[in-house]
Amino acid sequence: MGGYAEYTTVNESELALMPKNVDFIKAASLPVAGITAAEGILDLADVQAGQLVLVHAAAGGVGSIAIQLAKVRGAKVIGTASKHNHEFLKELVVDLVIDYCSQKFEDCVKNVDVVFDGVGGATQKRSYKVLRKGGVLISITTVPDAHLAKLYSVKASHVWANPSHRLLGIISKLVDSDLVKPVVTYTFPLGQVQKAHKLSEGGHLRGKIVLIP
Ligand SMILES: NC(=O)c1ccc[n+]([C@@H]2O[C@H](COP(=O)([O-])OP(=O)(O)OC[C@H]3O[C@@H](n4cnc5c(N)ncnc54)[C@H](OP(=O)(O)O)[C@@H]3O)[C@@H](O)[C@H]2O)c1
Repeated sequence: MGGYAEYTTVNESELALMPKNVDFIKAASLPVAGITAAEGILDLADVQAGQLVLVHAAAGGVGSIAIQLAKVRGAKVIGTASKHNHEFLKELVVDLVIDYCSQKFEDCVKNVDVVFDGVGGATQKRSYKVLRKGGVLISITTVPDAHLAKLYSVKASHVWANPSHRLLGIISKLVDSDLVKPVVTYTFPLGQVQKAHKLSEGGHLRGKIVLIP
């Protein structure tokens, strides 16, 4: 579905000016993760102040932006992650972190307004139980099961990030205001792209990897 290049042509309507207060590496980490998170948290779920939002894979590239956008909207945010990411998530203003390796999130939370699912599969199926009636499940992985959504009386949607001048502009302004921080854990020269893919496929990355030409 894509590739890597030192130069490419892009439709102007798919771009926005990068934030002024970050370098090219941090700015490059934002478009896919930022648009995916913004489509889910801001557009589809339309998270409101005081709502309870559960983010699965909160420390991942998309999750780390989703939790920050939900906080910008004034929500209380709960994130799932393994132990090594707990301090990191607390620094990113998550209100409660659940260790998915030692705890079942269903035992820790209920009446959730919005679940933002970056894991899918069984995690997504178990998530219906923690939503309040009328709540919203946003998946960026497995396409939600319409039958389960009806059974639990919730709205379930799937996000597929589409290039968006509007959403990139919103994210850029939030980064400039220090309300959203891009998270880049690794950078690799383009020649080491295999290393980057292996790390990503391990499924336990914090934030994003950026390739440098
Ligand atoms: N729909 C779209 O447009 C779109 C766009 C971008 C990405 N995606 C997809 O969204 C998913 C997430 O992508 P990503 O780049 O944010 O992250 P990722 O690199 O796929 O995931 C890494 C994170 O997942 C966490 N994790 C792994 N298993 C978990 C579990 N069972 N419960 C909770 N957290 C778990 C890890 O935390 P620990 O290390 O603490 O375990 C790690 O921080 C991927 O499947 C990706 O392909 C979709």
